[in-house]
Amino acid sequence: MSELLNGAKRTHMCGVLRASDEGKRSVVMGFVAKFRDLGNLIFIDVRDRTGIVQVAFDSACDEKLFEKAKTLHGEYVVCCSGTVRGRGGNINKNLPTGEIEILADDLKILSEAEVAPFVVCEDIKAAETLRLKYRYLDLRRAYLQQKLIMRDKITRIVRNFLADNGFLEIETPFLGKSTPEGARDYLVPSRVHPGEFYALPQSPQIYKQLLMIAGMDRYYQIARCFRDEDLRANRQPEFTQIDMEMSYVEDSEDVMEVAEEMIKKVFSECCGLKFEGKFRRIPYAEAMARWGSDKPDTRFALELNDLTDIVKGCGFSVFAAAAEKGAVKAINAKGLGKVMTRKDIDACADFAKGYGLGGLAFANYKSEGVTASFYKFLTKETIEKIEEKLKPEEGDILFFAAGEKGGVVTDCLGGLRCYLADKYSLYDKSKFDFLWVVDFPMFEYSEEEGRLVAVHHPFTSVKSEDIALLDSDPLKARANAYDLVINGQEAGGGSIRIHDPAMQSKMFEKLGMSDEDIKERFGFFVDAFKYGAPPHGGLAFGLDRLVMLVTGCDNIKDVIAFPKIQNASCLMTGAPAKVDDKQLAELSIDINGAKIEK
Ligand code: AMO
Repeated sequence: MSELLNGAKRTHMCGVLRASDEGKRSVVMGFVAKFRDLGNLIFIDVRDRTGIVQVAFDSACDEKLFEKAKTLHGEYVVCCSGTVRGRGGNINKNLPTGEIEILADDLKILSEAEVAPFVVCEDIKAAETLRLKYRYLDLRRAYLQQKLIMRDKITRIVRNFLADNGFLEIETPFLGKSTPEGARDYLVPSRVHPGEFYALPQSPQIYKQLLMIAGMDRYYQIARCFRDEDLRANRQPEFTQIDMEMSYVEDSEDVMEVAEEMIKKVFSECCGLKFEGKFRRIPYAEAMARWGSDKPDTRFALELNDLTDIVKGCGFSVFAAAAEKGAVKAINAKGLGKVMTRKDIDACADFAKGYGLGGLAFANYKSEGVTASFYKFLTKETIEKIEEKLKPEEGDILFFAAGEKGGVVTDCLGGLRCYLADKYSLYDKSKFDFLWVVDFPMFEYSEEEGRLVAVHHPFTSVKSEDIALLDSDPLKARANAYDLVINGQEAGGGSIRIHDPAMQSKMFEKLGMSDEDIKERFGFFVDAFKYGAPPHGGLAFGLDRLVMLVTGCDNIKDVIAFPKIQNASCLMTGAPAKVDDKQLAELSIDINGAKIEK
């Protein structure tokens, strides 16, 4: 039977009591984390979100109370009152409250608990699927609670910073029209308009630009976004952005400076980091050439070297063919030749196969000589040129990727350098690496769609010096877009927007959108620019990713209270789920009769 609090008031959170509190009266409330019956003494650990405190029940003090304490089990919810006393020689150094305990003189059992499907403890062994099913139990662990506490802290720092800098927090709709981020939409059927759908926002992009047109000047929102895309360790189908937009800015730096100041505040207040000077600005082209990624992790070297010109027409047909149409590039894995086994090297080849490359050539600079099966096809001069670039020393191993699509070669080595750095711990994980990638290309060519697509989104402006390229060589035109990269992760990104209707029309035209398409998808938006639009720009940070970076965790699920799994379902609620026929009928949806073509 659950008891009532009956007026009892909590005096302390469990984790705050210290030796200096000895002798004080204390009332704590929480879950029973541990129960030990020593015959005439019972000890329980009471847990709340601040920590754990030990409560003692002594049969010599109060027999009735002692008998009641005997009925306790793990995860019972209790209210314990008593006096704080020192633990004498039995100090628990692993607990911040380990010098004291509460000698109980009253116990209220606020809720009994069945045996939990797993033991709630920090050193948890239960499978992730079971923990997600009973997420509310897993969330009782300090590990996860600390993540949510940090999430709250970051959000508060951000809110205060933005308010201090003249940004207004404004909410925008969930039920709207498709937005331009390019993932698949989550759709919501309309009951009132049979056969019509709302799209949940992939970001508040359009609304925030309309707020600038509405004269709101500076906006932000801790905004939930929805994207139906393949999930990864740092991607969820619904995630949260710190979304911001500001008027009267024309230069990327204007936005980047405010955003950078905010990020520095977050990391100095949450991680104690000290910053000197600005974050590095790295042009996209340089990031791709040196690190093979538009979100380079520069905590370790392993830079890419382009050998395409050197191996053109060489005797190794794989390289020669790739050099003709695509690229041949290599990295020097310094010192790894000494530690990598043949199996490890083969694993790298498999890694490259994942990118659609045939494999990976390697040259192992051993003390007894170089092992490189393909060197025999190369002239001495070519080998010398390769060595001049990669500067191999004894113990180094060079990995070469060759392919007829240069982009794939770059991506593969960009991925391989991170794989090797992680696997062989080539960098200090406690260090942070902040940088901006700037000067992104405006467009890329989509083979699938047979047209140019926007690298950022279609409302991004082109660099003024590249406007002429829009007609002559659009793939060379660079955008006023920027991404903040932290430890090789895209933490945020944004751009200076187009605010001139003629330029916006031109952009749509470049993207192969017909007037009809434009009218249908973004007509209301394009119209708005006709009535006066201040120059504006903004950006959005992934809040979940920031929490991951601040807390040093590599699983996005750990920083979200109720996350989805890989296939976008929720193991706790069972969402998505079937709905009953009546609901479907109301929405004019006929699933059974519908022919589903994919
Ligand atoms: P973008 O699409 O780059 O830009 O998103 C901004 C940031 O949101 C985070 N993010 C995600 N986090 C978790 N799960 C996901 N599925 C996911 N997708 C994105 C990333 C990313 O950097 N409207 C523009 C911003 C702008 O131009 O102002 C936008 O949404 O950290």
